[in-house]
Amino acid sequence: MNVLLVGSGGREHALAWKLAQSKKLGKLYIAPGNAGTEACGENISIGVNDTDMLLDFAKQNDIGLVVIGPEDPLAAGIVDIFEAAGIKAFGPSAGAAQLEADKAFAKQLMRSSSISTAEGRIFERFSDAKTYIASRDEAVVVKAAGLAKGKGVYVCDDPSDGILAAEKIMRDKIFGPAGDKVIVEDKLLGEEASILAFVDGRNIYVMESSQDHKPIGDGDTGPNTGGMGAYSPAPVVTERIMDQITREILVPTVDGMNRNGTPYKGVLYAGIMMTGGGPRVLEYNVRFGDPETQPILMRLKSDLLQVCLAVCDGRLDKVTLEWDRRPAVCVVMASGGYPGSYEKGKKITGLDEADKIEDVVVFHAGTTVSDGDIVTNGGRVLGVTALAETIGEAKEKAYRAVDKIKFEGAYCRRDIADKAIKK
Ligand code: AMP
Ligand code: GLY
Repeated sequence: MNVLLVGSGGREHALAWKLAQSKKLGKLYIAPGNAGTEACGENISIGVNDTDMLLDFAKQNDIGLVVIGPEDPLAAGIVDIFEAAGIKAFGPSAGAAQLEADKAFAKQLMRSSSISTAEGRIFERFSDAKTYIASRDEAVVVKAAGLAKGKGVYVCDDPSDGILAAEKIMRDKIFGPAGDKVIVEDKLLGEEASILAFVDGRNIYVMESSQDHKPIGDGDTGPNTGGMGAYSPAPVVTERIMDQITREILVPTVDGMNRNGTPYKGVLYAGIMMTGGGPRVLEYNVRFGDPETQPILMRLKSDLLQVCLAVCDGRLDKVTLEWDRRPAVCVVMASGGYPGSYEKGKKITGLDEADKIEDVVVFHAGTTVSDGDIVTNGGRVLGVTALAETIGEAKEKAYRAVDKIKFEGAYCRRDIADKAIKK
């Protein structure tokens, strides 16, 4: 079967790497891909939101399955369009993608399904949001309701900063129409974990747990990024807690989506805060996480293509997945300046030496080929991922590989996985 994978980040290189191992795979195309995905299939220069061109390409190249990486095309209805054309597409419909694309929708679904989350209010007028925040004397979290590339959340220990955040979102429209509504919620305390599950509309298969590292600096300092590293499994998610998350969060979410007339299919990602009062939902994503996918897929022994097809065909209940029991750690190497402005086009060396280390895979994100060299082409450049017997050894191995790779201005956190090692 020929497969079209949509996206160009580290997540998509991990998906391409794993799909390429499938015995069922004919040709793999990646639109638009990066310098790393080229080793797994054929990159085609069509953007992730050029749905008409992607559909034409799929029809002309006998594509049996489309796998969509990022949220934007999902929210815009790419799955509905492919399915209407009779082509299987892995991911939720536009209606179901509201779970990530509209945080007000997600909040209402959680409320009506009694799913534990932060207390929150939804506002459509800045003046109302301002009055409410001003009445509070505790920390608030202000969120743009729409898609904002992971930047639309402000955790404000001082409510007056919350008013400024709401003003930027609703008045200045720094995220455009994504800021037409805001959610103002209580700040939750605890450790975060990412729970990703395959869902086929009815059945749920929970993957191994993982944890992201959002802030740019060591010790979780500085502004949030797309994610500076991840590991799997997350020791904070014990078997008992995983059962609780499945029972009290994932099952009611899938049921609620069915009741709402927007059945859920694809990967359901619940961002969880492990609070003193138990696990609570911070947010949903309607896709694989980046960089969580890199360590998770390093640990998946089963055929990803077969799982994706089972999800599309509604027969996930027939699937059992095999996992490597060894932990995996992914360290993101970023361009100097990220998440602010940064330069592109820096030549990257040492990739082969890093890849040669046993059980290390260097997943590309913002990379491209220029005059025969692999050069930087984005904020997050590489996700250096290692498997080992213990999480400590996986960390050590990932950094040994990182230290072989050079590009001007390269930056990475040095404490990825320390939280897990301390446990
Ligand atoms: P989100 O995009 O909703 O996941 O938010 C991004 C990050 O903001 C999360 O990973 C958390 O670190 C933080 N965050 C979001 N909501 C809350 C909350 N209610 N309390 C504390 N931190 C939060
Ligand atoms: N790692 C967070 C995300 O994928 O949104």
